[in-house]
Amino acid sequence: MSVKLVFGTQWGDEGKGKVVDYYAEKADIVVRYQGGNNAGHTIKIGDEVFKFHLLPSGVVRKGKTAVIGNGVVVDPKVLISEIEEIRKRGIEPNLVISDRAHVIMPYHRLLDGAEEVFRGKKKVGTTGRGIGPCYSDKIARLGIRMGELIDPEVLRERLEFIIPMKNRIFEAYGMEERLDVDEVFREYSEYGRYLRGMVGDTIEFLHKNMDKEILLEGAQGAMLDVDFGTYPYTTSSSTIGGGASTGSGIPPNAIKEITGVVKAYTTRVGMGPFPTEQENEIGKHLCEKGHEFGTTTGRARRCGWLDLVVVKHALRLTGADGIAITKIDVLEGLETIKVAYAYQVDGKKITYFPAKTDGIKPLYKEFQGWNMTSGEWEKVKEGGIDALPLNVREYLKFIEGETGVKIRMISYGPAREETVEL
Ligand code: IMP
Repeated sequence: MSVKLVFGTQWGDEGKGKVVDYYAEKADIVVRYQGGNNAGHTIKIGDEVFKFHLLPSGVVRKGKTAVIGNGVVVDPKVLISEIEEIRKRGIEPNLVISDRAHVIMPYHRLLDGAEEVFRGKKKVGTTGRGIGPCYSDKIARLGIRMGELIDPEVLRERLEFIIPMKNRIFEAYGMEERLDVDEVFREYSEYGRYLRGMVGDTIEFLHKNMDKEILLEGAQGAMLDVDFGTYPYTTSSSTIGGGASTGSGIPPNAIKEITGVVKAYTTRVGMGPFPTEQENEIGKHLCEKGHEFGTTTGRARRCGWLDLVVVKHALRLTGADGIAITKIDVLEGLETIKVAYAYQVDGKKITYFPAKTDGIKPLYKEFQGWNMTSGEWEKVKEGGIDALPLNVREYLKFIEGETGVKIRMISYGPAREETVEL
C-alpha cells in the first residue's frame, strides 16, 4: 500500500484528469491538496460524464473516500452545488473536508475582480473565483477556515471583525459594493450547516489510513506555482510536490510514486510568459484538434510547442519518477514538429527555467511529423514505445533522454482505453 502523486508539469490543462482517473480506480482515498474551483476536470464513467471544479475525482467511485485537504480553498456554494449534482444522479459522496481548509468568501471574489482592474494591462487573467485573495488572507492570518464556517458563533465573530475591514478596502478601491455582516452570516452559516457532517480532521484521517492506497491529485500545473512558476502570472498556491505535503499533511517521504503529466505540446490560459507559443497556423491546429478551451472559463487556450525546459523544471522540483504523456494524437497531421530543449538568453544557452523570462528565445529540435491509425497506436499496449513508428518513437525517446525520466503512461485519445500504462 502506498501514497502516489499525480501532478501537472506545464501551465495546467495537461490532461491530468484522465491520468488521475486511471490511478483513482485503484486507490482507496483520493486527496486534493491545493487550489480551488479555478480548476476543472471532466470524469467519464461508462456513459456518464461528471464535470467538477472542486470535488476530487474519487468522489464518484463506489467505496472510495474523497478528501479535500487543508491546502485547498473552498467556495462552499460551489462545493454544495457539486455535491447536489452527484446526489441528483444517485451517488452519495463519501467526502471528508479538512477543518483547516480556507473558505472563499464573497469579498474574495469581489477583490479578485477589483485587483485585476487595477492591474490593467498587467492583469494576471485570473479565473475570477477569489482564489488569490483567499490565499492572501490565509497568509495574512485573516482567513476563515472550514472548522469556523461550521461553528455559527465563531463564524459571526470572525465576520464582525473581517467585513468592516473589507468594506474599507472596497471604499479605498472606489468600489460601490458593501457587505453586510448579517446577510453574509445568514448565507454562510447555512452552508456551514449543510457541510457540517463532512468537515473533520483530515490529517488524523489520512495518517490513520496510511496503510491504504492513497492518491494525491494535483490541480493546475508546476508553472502556475506561486514560487517556481512564471510569477506573478501564476496561481496563488504551491502546485509542485512540496505542496502535496503541506496541503495534505502527508509527509514527503511517504510519497512513493510521482507521475508528472506532460501534454505532447504546451498550452496556457491567462496572461504571462510562454516561450514556445505559436500565434499562427500551428497554434490554430493545436487549439482546434486538441479542443483547447478552458473547462472553467471557456476561454481559448494559448497553444505552442512542447517545452522541455519547462518540463524538466517541473519534474526536478517534484522529484518525479515517471511521465504520463497526453494528447500525443493532437500532433498528427503536422509536417514537422518542434520541441524546445534549451533557451538562448543574452547570447548564452541555458537549460534551466530562469526567474526572469524577458528576452528568452527557445532553441528547438525538429522532428518529422506522423500520421497514424488508431490500430497503430494500439501496438503500444503490447510492445510499449518501441512498437510505435519511427517518427513518434523518436519524439518520445527525445523526451525521455532530455528529462532523464521514463514515460510510464501514454494517452492517445479521449476514450478511457486510449490511456495505456507502459
Ligand atoms: P487564479 O488561480 O484564478 O488566481 O488564476 C491565476 C492564473 O492561473 C490564471 O492565468 C489562470 O488562467 C490560471 N489557472 C488557474 N487555474 C487553472 C487551471 O486549472 N488550469 C489552467 N490555468 C489555470
